[in-house]
Amino acid sequence: MPTSPHHQQQLGVFCSGLLATRPSTSCSRTTRTSCSPNTRRPLSTTPVAAVSPATPTNNRQISNQTGNASGSGSSTHNEGRTQSKKRIPLTAAQREFLSSALRVNQAGELAATLIYTAQTPPVVSREPHLRPLMRHMYEQEAAHLSAFNALIAKHRVRPTALYPVWSLLASGLGWTTGVMGREAAMACTEAVETEIGDHYNAQIRRLLEMVTEWETQGYEVGGEFKDLIVTLRRIRDEELEHLDHAVEHDAKKAEPYWLLTGVIRAGCRGAIWVSERV
Ligand SMILES: [Fe+2]
Ligand SMILES: [Fe+2]
Repeated sequence: MPTSPHHQQQLGVFCSGLLATRPSTSCSRTTRTSCSPNTRRPLSTTPVAAVSPATPTNNRQISNQTGNASGSGSSTHNEGRTQSKKRIPLTAAQREFLSSALRVNQAGELAATLIYTAQTPPVVSREPHLRPLMRHMYEQEAAHLSAFNALIAKHRVRPTALYPVWSLLASGLGWTTGVMGREAAMACTEAVETEIGDHYNAQIRRLLEMVTEWETQGYEVGGEFKDLIVTLRRIRDEELEHLDHAVEHDAKKAEPYWLLTGVIRAGCRGAIWVSERV
């Protein structure tokens, strides 16, 4: 893991931001160096170093079910004091996963907007009835891009260094398939969305595994983290809607369908792999 001050600050924001939890009365300074303050703060502005030890905040006691299930002893009830669920810092691997997930998602959505931007003129010039559909899909991609732009800015995630490369390739892919005709353009969408749907599903599964693990251990999952899962699911569903539109508009009649979709899908997988890392 990088250890520069900037990177640590970025990851600290991730930790406190996407893992925002309720106040904790049991968090030990020695065991939980990034334990939450008593009140939820604007998390994107709360560096780890500024986090204070937890203190009691009210008189509501929690049950064992919602308390510390790890048996660390730090969550025992104190008479007259409230025990809220604790937060748990992200591990280095989890921080890296979230950083790379947001980075690759933003790159992918940028590529999607550029594909449709380049594809639409040649497609609708021959088939004007497709203009509303092309506009609809573009607008959804633009909204996806805005969502990830906001997330990487908020959590100070470095965008992919290959922005110019992906931009060029995406525009080229969109223009080429658009010129080839409706079927090829739709085959491009089918191929891209098949890979992107799988990609988002994999991310959602990983996040749900993290949630399950935390909840099993008695930790509370922050609303910001849950919101991220909701956002990914919504975007995943819209990508799969694009896939359906593409199939409905004769994607499988493209020539040569298998070569075209095979090359595009392989390219998507390669771009995802690289963007997660670079
Ligand atoms: Fe998208
Ligand atoms: Fe899409």
